Amino acid sequence: MWFPYYIQFLIYSVGVNVFLLFTCVIYYSDVFLTNFNRNLLQEYDYIIVGAGTAGSLIGHRLATETNFTFMVFEAGGRSHFLYEIPIIGPLLHGSVYDWQFETTPQENACLAMVDRKCKLTQGKIVGGSSKLNNMIHIRGNLSHYAEWFHGVHNEEYIRQHFDFLEEYFLNIDDIPYQSEMTDAILDAAKELGYEKLDKHFKKGFSKSRVTHKNGKRWTTSDMLDLNKHVTTNALVEKVLIINNKSFGVSVRISDKTHIVLARKGVILSAGTLNTPKILQLSGVGPSKLLKSLNIPIIQDLPVGLNLQDHVGSGLDLILLNKTLSVSAANIINPLNLFHYIQGKGPWTNPGCEVLGFLSTKNLTTPDIEIMVLPVGIASDRGSLLRKLIGISDEVWNEYFTKTFNYHTATFFTVILHPKSKGNVFIKSTDPEIPPLVNPRYLSAKEDVDTLITGLKLAIKFIKTDSLKAIEAHLNTNSFPGCTQFPFFSDAYLECYVRHLTLTSYHPVGTCSMGLSDSKNSVVDTSFRVLNIQNLYIADASILPTLPSGNINAAVTVMANIFFEKNIKHVSHNSDKVFYCHSYDQIYQYLFKICSLK
Ligand SMILES: Cc1cc2nc3c(=O)[nH]c(=O)nc-3n(C[C@H](O)[C@H](O)[C@H](O)COP(=O)(O)OP(=O)(O)OC[C@H]3O[C@@H](n4cnc5c(N)ncnc54)[C@H](O)[C@@H]3O)c2cc1C
Ligand SMILES: *[C@@H]1O[C@H](CO)[C@@H](O)[C@H](O)[C@H]1NC(C)=O
Ligand SMILES: *[C@@H]1O[C@H](CO)[C@@H](O)[C@H](O)[C@H]1NC(C)=O
Ligand SMILES: *[C@@H]1O[C@H](CO)[C@@H](O)[C@H](O)[C@H]1NC(C)=O
Ligand SMILES: *[C@@H]1O[C@H](CO)[C@@H](O)[C@H](O)[C@H]1NC(C)=O
Ligand SMILES: *[C@@H]1O[C@H](CO)[C@@H](O)[C@H](O)[C@H]1NC(C)=O
Repeated sequence: MWFPYYIQFLIYSVGVNVFLLFTCVIYYSDVFLTNFNRNLLQEYDYIIVGAGTAGSLIGHRLATETNFTFMVFEAGGRSHFLYEIPIIGPLLHGSVYDWQFETTPQENACLAMVDRKCKLTQGKIVGGSSKLNNMIHIRGNLSHYAEWFHGVHNEEYIRQHFDFLEEYFLNIDDIPYQSEMTDAILDAAKELGYEKLDKHFKKGFSKSRVTHKNGKRWTTSDMLDLNKHVTTNALVEKVLIINNKSFGVSVRISDKTHIVLARKGVILSAGTLNTPKILQLSGVGPSKLLKSLNIPIIQDLPVGLNLQDHVGSGLDLILLNKTLSVSAANIINPLNLFHYIQGKGPWTNPGCEVLGFLSTKNLTTPDIEIMVLPVGIASDRGSLLRKLIGISDEVWNEYFTKTFNYHTATFFTVILHPKSKGNVFIKSTDPEIPPLVNPRYLSAKEDVDTLITGLKLAIKFIKTDSLKAIEAHLNTNSFPGCTQFPFFSDAYLECYVRHLTLTSYHPVGTCSMGLSDSKNSVVDTSFRVLNIQNLYIADASILPTLPSGNINAAVTVMANIFFEKNIKHVSHNSDKVFYCHSYDQIYQYLFKICSLK
């Protein structure tokens, strides 16, 4: 490494390590302090497992709109106000706030990563993955949601739920600060004849809308009363089920296992990789797997199968002669703190500035998404980002270090509806041991073809006048392992995507919703685990297919529908009366169901 770059590497590394040390101090003092502050009951009406995007929303609505007693068990610790700085997000990846999952060695993908394993970051913190994500909020194609419900709910119903959530619960807005890339890309999109995206999903480009409040990261967990309703550092081991009815959970809190009962139900919101793990440990899963681990079989269900993810490629494809205003050097400038306090400046930027939806088949329905980021992983000289992805030494030295003379930016291109499907299986009966996650990325050739065409569409941007105006050009270094193919030929691009395979961390499908007689279903369209009473799932794992877009909004709306259908308006022998909130007036207008008063 050239000397000045080495100095940069050292400076950034010191910054990263000081921050990581700091997270450990916060984390362990939280573990220590919360030990003294537990007022755990023996029994609640509901138990929610996981305080992520879904669990937090359900908890909030339970607390404010019902008199039910409930407890949210969260395996991770509490957040800290520093973690709310959007640009800090990546620093939490791989930290104590990440489950640090990785895939099994992939056959057809992740070849540029150490041991052919892609990292699969998932949040282990109050707020879950939404504390580590890029904060993008997008509804996607609502007709897919209607398909998940098999006619029980239509598109209009989903739209009303979104309108309601966005109006009364979520905080969504434009990114307060964007780099020069944003306008250049949007101009380039216009040049290439793409439409501007609006509220209605279609092909086209737009600035990304994000979940933030005054420039700070905002998550559904911000609405929770942590002292009253959440027990942190509490790992739920399994759901207790007798006679096909769930009655509680066993949960490990500071090395002691507690049994906590749930009168009305257990709600699993532990996310796509952990919810199947908990179910399998509880005896609900594929009988072959359970037998191999000597777990008594309660229900033989396809738990852990059908794993899908928005996978793609395109890191550091753009080189710029000039540094952009969002860059590693700029980020560590402490002056930005003052801008941040006012809700402005580069620290409010969560990464992805522009979203685009395109069709590789020239249809009106998009099949790829492009996320434009004003940074690449070379930007930090290897001090952090390359480790978060697991780039091997060889690839780092022979590809990424060669771009140090430029500013790099990313045209992250992902397949919206991949055909490749994988699985999540526990490998031990010990709840502390992570499951084997095999997404089988790019195992379907069709996915590779879609990605190749998608990357070619992305490249067209780099050649537009608008991008030339900011001195952008294509990174023409040949990717290590692919140098035998002519640059940017189909064979080269296939090799490239199989090497530089990247996830957008959108796993879904491991506890799919569906008709109860379908062989892929784990929950029915009322979020109930099949053939088991009082056991529900509401998180990303139930999405049977990927939505057309980043998935956090979809998870939020599904959690909301779960609450409406199964808790707020329970039709069966309800012994509680519900009261209506002030905002229920509009609610009444929308749904005409606030009549239980
Ligand atoms: C790095 C990254 C970037 C992303 N970017 C975006 C984006 O920009 N836009 C977007 O729409 N989506 C994005 N996503 C996806 C989105 O954030 C997630 O899909 C969403 O948060 C999932 O919500 P969930 O409720 O299903 O699970 P999570 O939010 O992951 O919550 C699950 C919670 O359960 C807890 N838990 C798990 N197991 C147990 C247990 N045994 N006992 C107790 N607690 C447990 C976990 O610690 C966690 O807090 C991103 C995800 C990641 C990881
Ligand atoms: C539980 O469900 C399974 C499968 O649906 C069934 O075979 C079994 O008899 C049920 N057990 C009890 C105790 O009801
Ligand atoms: C895409 O479709 C449009 C309208 O159907 C057509 O005019 C155009 O030529 C097509 N473009 C390509 C590249 O096939
Ligand atoms: C939305 O999805 C439906 C069903 O897959 C499809 O027919 C429609 O074309 C999609 N709409 C858009 C704008 O992509
Ligand atoms: C950017 O740098 C490249 C390589 O050094 C050079 O070929 C190109 O002319 C430069 N572009 C501009 C607009 O200066
Ligand atoms: C909930 O409790 C409050 C305070 O005791 C009471 O006023 C209200 O009627 C109760 N509501 C329900 C639904 O039981």
